[in-house]
Amino acid sequence: MANCVPPLAVSASGIEILDSTGKRYLDASGGAAVSCIGHGDARVVEAIRQQVAALDYAHNVSFTSEAAEELAAFLCDATPLPLEKVQFVGSGSEAVEAALKLARQYHIERGEPGRHVVITRLQSYHGNTLGALARGGNVARSRPYAPMMVESPRIEPCFDYHCRRPDESLPAYGQRAADALEEEILRVGPDNVSAFIAETVVGATSGAVPPVPGYFQRIREICDRYGILLILDEVMCGASRTGPFLACEAEDVQPDIVTLAKGLAGGYQSIAAVMCTQRIHQAFAEGSGRFVHGHTFMAHPVACAAALAVQKVIRQDRLDINVVRQGEILGHLLKARLGHHSHVGDIRGRGLLQAIELVADRGSKQPFSSTRGLAAAVDVECRARGLMVYPGTGTVDGVVGDHILLAPPYNVSCVELGQIVERLGDAVEAVLGKG
Ligand SMILES: Cc1ncc(COP(=O)(O)O)c(C=O)c1O
Repeated sequence: MANCVPPLAVSASGIEILDSTGKRYLDASGGAAVSCIGHGDARVVEAIRQQVAALDYAHNVSFTSEAAEELAAFLCDATPLPLEKVQFVGSGSEAVEAALKLARQYHIERGEPGRHVVITRLQSYHGNTLGALARGGNVARSRPYAPMMVESPRIEPCFDYHCRRPDESLPAYGQRAADALEEEILRVGPDNVSAFIAETVVGATSGAVPPVPGYFQRIREICDRYGILLILDEVMCGASRTGPFLACEAEDVQPDIVTLAKGLAGGYQSIAAVMCTQRIHQAFAEGSGRFVHGHTFMAHPVACAAALAVQKVIRQDRLDINVVRQGEILGHLLKARLGHHSHVGDIRGRGLLQAIELVADRGSKQPFSSTRGLAAAVDVECRARGLMVYPGTGTVDGVVGDHILLAPPYNVSCVELGQIVERLGDAVEAVLGKG
């Protein structure tokens, strides 16, 4: 439990949150990359009101609802990838748990019950429930619970800034990073491996790290070679946060299972989704006919109605286009304001998921000591200036490294982007000097 009481939020509109003292905050990270269309959109509020009035809840074991059916069809139509079946759960962690179980049971249905190991990556995050936490690589979040978790094999992340050798091309690095998966599969024994899980664009753990070109294509080849499912966790980077509906559309890769959450209902309700291919669904249909998994609040009609309304706002207002355009502007503004600062080592990201990484020395990319609490100190200065960001530590290896993540709403204006970058620049300088 935090030992200090946070400000009392009383209302929110557009990109602003108002606290009980009358202070206004620019919500430059949508909380944890959630509020994708800003706060208080009347169209979503009305959709929620109508849904509660018509059908507040019906248990998903006995009923489906129009909202759930329409949302599922909408999501499948939103991506050109062959993801044709959807299950709705309550949070990103629940979606990851469901994806892990879906992969496991898929292999059982096909007569390969030995496949149970999920290979994952260092410097990743897949949720806080024990199963998802065990498959993540976020040291700080999992350390206290390590004795309670199953050991999960982990490979190095695809992290251009820290892991590419100086003499290595981007494609060569991508192949090398992906080949680590094959080595790990062979070490664990291919017949034991169920799935490989990765964030398409890494979010909170190392700060908006996109894959290098070709990385995920090679990963796909390796998964196919050994009959292993590819789960892409797009809880943070999906739902148009980087431009396309799914971030993996830009990688020319077809995952077997995808998880979505934050931008799905943009914070108006708590809902997440697991999407999978017809091939996976078929294995169940031809097998036991039943996915052994469920939660009381799955496919909650009000949450589905909210998500559907948010997705319609994104489509109607063409916000996916805005994400790409404003993302480029955000990148330019960050580079102009902070690109020359001696303690800003990297400015990276995709669409409206971007981050700055703070380093003690730009040449060697040496991070600051973790005892300095740098990201938290920048966060304090941001808040003092009425700016909400998403600070992160352990960027490099789970212990050291500091970054500040930005994830403004898809309808953020140029003026607002300017204000965000100015305040962030002032906050960084307040902590680290003019650089
Ligand atoms: C990539 C990713 N997966 C899973 C989760 C877990 O989602 P939740 O916090 O909704 O359980 C998160 C949350 O930040 C995430 O970023």
